[in-house]
Amino acid sequence: MNILLIGNGGREHAIAWKLAQSKQIKKLFIAPGNPGTAQCGTNVDIKSDDHDKLLAFAKENKIALAVVGPEDPLAAGIVDRFEEAGIKAFGPSGAAAQLEADKAFAKHIMKANSIPTAESRTFDNFHDAKDYIASRDEAVVIKAAGLAKGKGVFVCDEPSEGILAAEKIMVDKIFGDAGKIILVEDKLLGQEASILALVDSKNIYVLESSQDHKPIGDGDTGPNTGGMGAYSPAPIVTEKMMDQITREILVPTIDGMNRNGTPYKGILYAGIMITQGGPRVLEFNVRFGDPETQPILSRLKSDLLEAMLATCSGTLDKITLRWDQRPAVCVVMASGGYPDSYEKGKVITGIDDAQADEDIVVFHAGTARKDDDIVTSGGRVLGVTALGQTIAKAQAKAYEGVGKINFEKAYYRKDIADKAIKKSVS
Ligand code: AMP
Ligand code: GLY
Repeated sequence: MNILLIGNGGREHAIAWKLAQSKQIKKLFIAPGNPGTAQCGTNVDIKSDDHDKLLAFAKENKIALAVVGPEDPLAAGIVDRFEEAGIKAFGPSGAAAQLEADKAFAKHIMKANSIPTAESRTFDNFHDAKDYIASRDEAVVIKAAGLAKGKGVFVCDEPSEGILAAEKIMVDKIFGDAGKIILVEDKLLGQEASILALVDSKNIYVLESSQDHKPIGDGDTGPNTGGMGAYSPAPIVTEKMMDQITREILVPTIDGMNRNGTPYKGILYAGIMITQGGPRVLEFNVRFGDPETQPILSRLKSDLLEAMLATCSGTLDKITLRWDQRPAVCVVMASGGYPDSYEKGKVITGIDDAQADEDIVVFHAGTARKDDDIVTSGGRVLGVTALGQTIAKAQAKAYEGVGKINFEKAYYRKDIADKAIKKSVS
């Protein structure tokens, strides 16, 4: 079977790495891919927003399944295009992808289906937003409603900071049209977890839990990023908590999407805050998380392709996934300066040395090949991912791998998975 994977991040390298282990695959193409995915299959030089070319390539190369990694092509309806052409595609329709691409739509689905989430109000002009925020006397969270590469959320402890954030989004338009509408949310307190599930519009198959680290700095300080590291499983998500999340969040979301006429298929990712009052949805994503996918798929023993095909054919009730019981930790190495501006083109050394250990995989994200070198080409550059008998051992191993890799101005958080270690000893 020939497969086309669309995307070029760390998540796509992890998906390509896992798919390449499937015996059912004849050819794996990745468009556009990165130097990491090139080790798992054949990179094809087509960008993920060029739907015409992707479809033409799929027809020419007898693609049996297209797997869409990132949110932008999903929100732009790439799955609809493939399916109309008779090609199976893993991911939601453009209409269902609005669950991530339009946070106001997501809130509507949550409210209509009594799904626990933070109270929020939606604004389409800065003056009303400003008056409302000024009338509040506690912390607020300001969110651009549209897609902003994981950077569109400002958690503000003072309303005055909230007004500045709203101004940046709505007046300075730092996220362009994605910030035409904003949400002003109550701040929730608790611990976060990422819950990813395969969904075939009627069945839900929950994957192992994980936790991301969104802020750039140690101790969760500084601005939010796409994610600086992740671990799986998240000890905070006990079996009982997972049942509660499934019952109170995942099931009503899927039912609600069906009732809304936008049935859901693909990966449903619920970003959850586990508060004292129970789990609350922070956001929905309509695809695998990045970097959560790196530790999650490192632990998957079963065939990912089979699970994706079952998702597309509505037979998720027939599959059982097997997992490595060892925890996994992924530490993201980024270009110094990220999430603001940074330099590119720095030569990376030590990847093979780090991967000489069989429990370490180095997933590429913002890398490029330049002659014989691998160089940096993005904000998040690598995801050094390790398995260990305990979360502490997986963490130590991941940082051992990081220690072997060098590039100028490399930056990484030093505390990835500390939270999980504290939780598992407490
Ligand atoms: P989102 O992209 O909506 O997940 O937001 C990014 C990050 O901002 C989340 O992972 C949380 O750390 C934080 N965040 C979002 N919404 C809230 C909220 N209502 N209360 C507290 N933190 C939040
Ligand atoms: N790691 C957060 C995300 O994928 O959006």
